[in-house]
Order: sequence, then C-alpha cells, then structure tokens
Amino acid sequence: MTSIKEQLISLEKHAMSDLKQIETEQGLDEWRINYQGRRNGQLPKLLEELPKLPIEDRREVGIAANKLRDTLEIGYNERLQEIKNSELQEKLLEETIDVSLPGRKQTLGKLHPTTQTIREISSIFVNLGYQIVDGPEVESDYYNFEALNIPPDHPARDQWDTLWLDYNNEEGIRPLLLRTHTSPMQIRTMENQEPPIRVIVPGRCYRHEATDTTHESMFFQIEGLAVDKGITFADLKGTLYTFARKLFGAERKIRFRCDFFPFVEPGVDMSIDCFSCDGIGCRVCSNTGWIEIMGAGMVHPDVLKRVGYDPDVYTGFAFGMGPERISMLKHGIDDIRHFYTNDLRFLEQF
Ligand code: PHE
Repeated sequence: MTSIKEQLISLEKHAMSDLKQIETEQGLDEWRINYQGRRNGQLPKLLEELPKLPIEDRREVGIAANKLRDTLEIGYNERLQEIKNSELQEKLLEETIDVSLPGRKQTLGKLHPTTQTIREISSIFVNLGYQIVDGPEVESDYYNFEALNIPPDHPARDQWDTLWLDYNNEEGIRPLLLRTHTSPMQIRTMENQEPPIRVIVPGRCYRHEATDTTHESMFFQIEGLAVDKGITFADLKGTLYTFARKLFGAERKIRFRCDFFPFVEPGVDMSIDCFSCDGIGCRVCSNTGWIEIMGAGMVHPDVLKRVGYDPDVYTGFAFGMGPERISMLKHGIDDIRHFYTNDLRFLEQF
C-alpha cells in the first residue's frame, strides 16, 4: 500500500490539474467538495488514516497535510479570481461600443443669409454710434404714408404697391396696411424720443408685387435716421461713404444722384462703383459701372414739424436699403426669390 505521504502527493497533482479545467464557479464548488468536503472529501478521508500511522510519522504527515490544505485553498481562491475576471471580460466585451462605426452626421443650423447681412450692416452702424430699433409690420396709413408727406391722393403712393388689411374705419377708409417700407419708423422714433437721434431699423416690408428676379412681396429693409442740431448733407455723405467702404471694401467710390422721396429734401440715390469690374462695366452693374444700393436724403422740414421738431433747430438725414439686394450683389445671387423659397441647397451655401 502506497504510503499516505505518496497519496498526498498524488492527490495534490490530481487536484491541481482538475482545477485548471474548471470554468465555472459552480464547478469550482464541486471541486472543493470533492477534495476537501467534510464528509467525503478526498483529503479528510485520507487523514482518517492518520491515527493508524506510527507516532513518529504522524507529525510529518500532519504538516504535509496542512500544507496541502493551504495549497488547495490558495488554488481555489486563485482560480475563483480567474473565473470572475474572465466573466467580467466577457461582460465587458458584450457591452463594448464599437467606436469604429461611422457616426450619424449632426447638421448644424446657421443663420439665414438675410440675417447675416442685416447683422453685418447693423454692426457697422452700431460702431458709428447707432441704436438698433424695431417696429410694427402692421402699420397705419398715417405712419406709412401721411406722416411721410404722402397724402391719400398723392401719386407717389403708386411707388409702393400696398397690401391693405381688410378692416374699414367709420369713414369707410382702410387705415391699416402691411408696411411697404421701414420709413414709418422715422416718425415713430422721432415721436418717442428727443434728438440727438441715431437709429437703424431692420425689418420686414411687404408689397403687392408680381414677383420676379428682383421683386418679392416680402423682403427686408434697413432704415437709418440721424437727427441733431447742425446735421448737414456732408454728414449724410460721410456716414454713408464710411458704411459703403466698410461693407464693400476700402477702394469703393460712391456716387449720389438726385432722386425723389416725398419725405426727404433733397433726396438721392446712392451708388457704389461696381466692385465686380471696378467700374468698367459688367453683368453685375448692367454695364453701367455703378450699383445703386440705397435711397437717402435730408429729412423733410414738414416731417420734422409734424413730429414737433423745429426745423430751424434740428436737421437730419435718413436712408433706406434692401439687405437682400446687397447680399445678391455681394454673392452674385441672380434671383431674390431664392431667399424665401427655403431650398436648403441655396441656404446651405451661406
Ligand atoms: N423708404 C424708401 C423706399 O422704400 C427708401 C428711403 C428711405 C429713401 C429713407 C430715403 C430715405 O424706397
């Protein structure tokens, strides 16, 4: 019969090689019961033989048995850790996000080209000390026309094809309309504050138009107004010259020609020399070398009187421009209707 010592050695060998095969915690528990279980475990069983040994061998075998117990215990714990780690590994693998997948494209919104132009123009005037103000799009006949020297029977009304609101007052007159320009804000501003005044008014305007490449029934204007003691036409020129050069480049020349707007005197239209051909003549400037960019003039004394300003004390200038027209010129856009058709292929270019 092999000695207990030899049996201990072979038990260790078997136990340790079994241990390596085990993949689950349950299997590990079974292994422990098999080798160390109190009732039928192989090691306790073997040690039952211990009292039968001669007294001098017992000590040695006892020590070896204790060592084996420790070895099994350590082996158990190590394997347990390994199993747990590999389970964790598997779990991690299952939950891994495959970052190599192509992401879904996030499209960033941006400002409408008209908004961009309005902001660019506004910031030039803000730097010149102007305030930005806002006004109603539904206006009264008074502000849109009468207060601007355009009485009901005045032929100048034909210049502004008007969308009237379906509402009659007691005299059977339609006093409300969609503003055809931002000039009514000249009146509202002067009524609401005292000079010195420096304002610009960006906003929507509406006209009863058959639309074409240069006409829309809804578009924007930017109105400007400066009123103070001693303002002259030289101030108008200087201001608009500065503006044009900031927006279109420092080499730009400007040209003023007489024009008629009932609420200014004198009235002008302002042009810049064509930035596309430097004034030689091209498609952009219709071969004239010049591009009209706004109407302007000195505020009419009757308009000043109407809002209670003394025209002998205060003078001022006003101007109005169309931001769509300006961005059409700057970007070579050939149809104003592109702006509000909301075709992303157009809008995404800005
Ligand atoms: N309101 C005018 C228009 O719509 C433009 C303008 C504004 C002209 C201010 C002179 C002064 O045509």
